Amino acid sequence: MPAVSSRLPAFPWDKLEPYKATAAAHPDGIVDLSVGTPVDPVPELIQKALVAAADSPGYPTVWGTAELRNALAGWVERRLGAVDVAHTNVLPVVGSKELVAWLPTQLGLGPGDKVAYPRLAYPTYEVGARLARAEAVAYDTATFAADPAGADLDPSGLKLLWLNSPSNPTGGVLAKDELIRIVAWAREHGVLVFSDECYVELGWEAEPVSVLHPDVCGGTYEGVVAVHSLSKRSNLAGYRAAFVAGDEAVLGELLQIRKHGGMMTPAPVQAATVAALGDDTHVTEQRARYAARRAALRTALEGHGFRIEHSEASLYLWATRDEPCWETVAHLAELGILVAPGDFYGTAGESFVRVAFTATDERVEAAVKRLG
Ligand SMILES: Cc1ncc(COP(=O)(O)O)c(C=O)c1O
Repeated sequence: MPAVSSRLPAFPWDKLEPYKATAAAHPDGIVDLSVGTPVDPVPELIQKALVAAADSPGYPTVWGTAELRNALAGWVERRLGAVDVAHTNVLPVVGSKELVAWLPTQLGLGPGDKVAYPRLAYPTYEVGARLARAEAVAYDTATFAADPAGADLDPSGLKLLWLNSPSNPTGGVLAKDELIRIVAWAREHGVLVFSDECYVELGWEAEPVSVLHPDVCGGTYEGVVAVHSLSKRSNLAGYRAAFVAGDEAVLGELLQIRKHGGMMTPAPVQAATVAALGDDTHVTEQRARYAARRAALRTALEGHGFRIEHSEASLYLWATRDEPCWETVAHLAELGILVAPGDFYGTAGESFVRVAFTATDERVEAAVKRLG
């Protein structure tokens, strides 16, 4: 049997291991800024909701409890400004990564179909296309967003268009007028838009807009779906709590497939998600922590000779010294700081590094001192 893994790109993180070892040898220990994994506690109200639902002997449903669907629809309306969001417009998923990886397969895409995603992107969009044996096509975000019809993204055979705003890795944000143009173009060509908005509540110098905002989608969700995750906004990466919202025909079909596949969010996590989405205070507090870490790291990196591009939102600084990214990785590893090379996210990132500010205040302070 041919190995399915042979269809996939090489797992790049192994290449970072020697640099991790170098950074770990620093006498004051490693400052690991290479991954965007939350390090602050799960807010107490969410932990309590999880514990209160610990006695859950029966199977949960894929669509989730009515309380969960109310919470998802309510949050989408309140936080994203979407209108008339019904239960049929929401669907929980088991963390957004599995959705991204299996979406083309679950949509029934295959050879002859194209899946497009930004040239600099979270690698799982490409993985999803390859798992389905669809053709993976990368587009340049700036030129495509400026003029979708004039850009070199050919709509023929294109079935699924991934947007990611705010972007991992660049922290760039698509403006409302750019989203409007893209959605219009996609609808004209019958291309389904999936907009990964995992970092929507983490805007610093920009206010990210959802594809579900009525100014963008015209108040109808036809052909548009947004992907949201609680991993970053609520420190819930360990819970696997995420959902999609938008076109009910697409979500209805995904629900059928995912029921057959047993892709259920555990009942205690469903309860925790309801609590998390009903509370904005912990998000405000977490944002303040990240804002301080971001400001400290940004100043230190710039003082150390880095230029920061984009980075208006998300949990990353997209930084360059105008040299090959692996030279930057090596230089910072000598200082005991581990970052992600930009070429992990596409060759367009080969002179950048991605610096996550998901480290404790103590570790961020250590990095700032070493860069000084
Ligand atoms: C752009 C983007 N999408 C999706 C994910 C997956 O998040 P999760 O599976 O924790 O919901 C990540 C994680 O880093 C991400 O950066």
